[in-house]
Amino acid sequence: MRTSKNIVLFTLIVMNFVDQPTPEVTIEQGTLSGRISANGLVFEYLGIPYATTNQSSRFKEPFPPPKWEGVFRATDDSTACPQDNFLVIRGTEDCLKINVFVPVYAERPLPVMVFVHGGAFFLGDGGKVFYGPQFLLNHDVILVTFNYRLGILGFLCLGIKEAPGNAGLKDQLAALRWVKRNIEAFGGDSNRITVFGVSAGAASISLLIASGKVDGIIHRAIIQSGSAVAHWSITRKPVWVASYVLKSLGHDTKDPHELYNILSKMSSRELAALPHEKPLEPYLDTQLIHLPCIEKPFPGTESLITDYPFNLFKKNPTNISIIHGTNSEEGLFFVAYDEEEGIKHRDGKFLMATDLEFETCEEAVNVSKVIHKFYFGDKRINTESIMELSELYKHIHFEMPSIIESEIISEVSSAPVYNYYFKYFGKRNYLKLSLGFDDSEGACHGDELLYIFDAMFWPFKIDDEDKLMIERMTGMWTNFAKYGDPTPEKTESLPIKWYPSSKGKIKFLHIDKNMSMENDMPSPEAYRMWKDIYTKYYRTKL
Ligand SMILES: *[C@@H]1O[C@H](CO)[C@@H](O)[C@H](O)[C@H]1NC(C)=O
Ligand SMILES: *[C@@H]1O[C@H](CO)[C@@H](O)[C@H](O)[C@H]1NC(C)=O
Ligand SMILES: *[C@@H]1O[C@H](CO)[C@@H](O)[C@H](O)[C@H]1NC(C)=O
Ligand SMILES: *[C@@H]1O[C@H](CO)[C@@H](O)[C@H](O)[C@H]1NC(C)=O
Repeated sequence: MRTSKNIVLFTLIVMNFVDQPTPEVTIEQGTLSGRISANGLVFEYLGIPYATTNQSSRFKEPFPPPKWEGVFRATDDSTACPQDNFLVIRGTEDCLKINVFVPVYAERPLPVMVFVHGGAFFLGDGGKVFYGPQFLLNHDVILVTFNYRLGILGFLCLGIKEAPGNAGLKDQLAALRWVKRNIEAFGGDSNRITVFGVSAGAASISLLIASGKVDGIIHRAIIQSGSAVAHWSITRKPVWVASYVLKSLGHDTKDPHELYNILSKMSSRELAALPHEKPLEPYLDTQLIHLPCIEKPFPGTESLITDYPFNLFKKNPTNISIIHGTNSEEGLFFVAYDEEEGIKHRDGKFLMATDLEFETCEEAVNVSKVIHKFYFGDKRINTESIMELSELYKHIHFEMPSIIESEIISEVSSAPVYNYYFKYFGKRNYLKLSLGFDDSEGACHGDELLYIFDAMFWPFKIDDEDKLMIERMTGMWTNFAKYGDPTPEKTESLPIKWYPSSKGKIKFLHIDKNMSMENDMPSPEAYRMWKDIYTKYYRTKL
């Protein structure tokens, strides 16, 4: 098999077919052709419009995609949605493009994996500079990546029909519907669609599942370090956000219609340049502001999130199989970001977020004291408390929400939920290494990504240990996409059985140099404390 692949590849190179057009594919919108990857192993169809958006659909669900005559050249994945990536403002408003990567030599129909990129809901795109397909495609699956609207363009939420909220999530839903309708033309199996994503991408998937709108479209989901029930997945004061960001331009209004009038006339560049962080506050919410919201429904438009996700999961029991997990040192990313000012600010402030609701301030103070004692003992919070703060961030932003969400889903779902805890530290933990935490153990937020994607921006030679981790991650992820079971049989690289969690009993696969199944929570005492707090104070009534 390998030899015949090599012969065909050799022939392609000799005949100079590499970088040549792919076979043409005809979808609902028309005929398109992509190009063959430089290594000759992938048909790449890049930058296909899956929906459209312009100033008249701004802040709302997107329009259907365009149709065309002739052959569309799908060879450009460089379009991004408008965003301020700290150095430059880039992107164009009509950015709803999708990329399809198909292995040249593999028996069809192929299972399909759709990736929802992360980036805190205001950064990122689906391009292959980051999300290179080869590691996954080695296992004979189709990979799909795409862009969705970001920042205020994706998440303005004013409770009026011109800006009902969640436009970015509606783009994601449009992308998934596009895949369901069109993927067979590329050799994909429209009955084996797995969606996976990291961070904001994971929270998005989780919100889409909670909405009940993706049942019957997708079959499996991998939710990596994000969840709909986390405090940072939903903004609780969306109109304030619009008012706050426009203050920077000298406007002073809280009226949704006035806010809309100003924002609808600005250029997409000006919108991307608006602030995407709020000042530090007494509660421990992140500083992110352009977030999904709970929508007020309007006739004639499709709303997605109409209640707290916690309630939606129970209202819309899903039958989607799920992998849900987090990393062992998620919090490092946040303490690095905090710097001195943010760390000092925490001392004496509340150590929980506004997803909790207290009858009296005294009660909130008491709960905060319990949390302080747990993480910091009798010490005050200062620049020496970085590792303790990192632990707190990890638990409150990721680990506890992931576990609590898994508990709710496994309670109501008929399909399995698999949980993992990623601890591996190799040479491709790009975030931890970029942040300079070279000598601490474990994996930071996002550190599993480069064991799944061969990013062009990380061009270092891959050593044998990292190769094994890539083999394990892509092996389990693609097994799940193929069979709904990440470890259908023991193999040399995966000598372990990953058991799903069951009602009331979450189990974890620890992913490291040694793989192991653990019945205990990764942080049992923290879990008991937070579970108790959430049970008493979690805000679930509108
Ligand atoms: C926006 O796109 C839609 C659908 O393609 C089109 O009907 C409409 O005329 C466009 N509006 C503007 C202002 O370009
Ligand atoms: C899951 O639910 C959807 C929508 O209700 C339904 O179309 C589909 O057949 C269900 N799949 C399974 C495996 O039960
Ligand atoms: C807060 O803690 C104090 C001291 O332990 C206690 O006296 C008080 O009743 C608590 N208040 C509430 C509302 O729990
Ligand atoms: C991994 O497993 C081997 C064999 O069981 C053991 O000797 C080694 O100490 C383990 N390493 C870690 C990091 O747990």
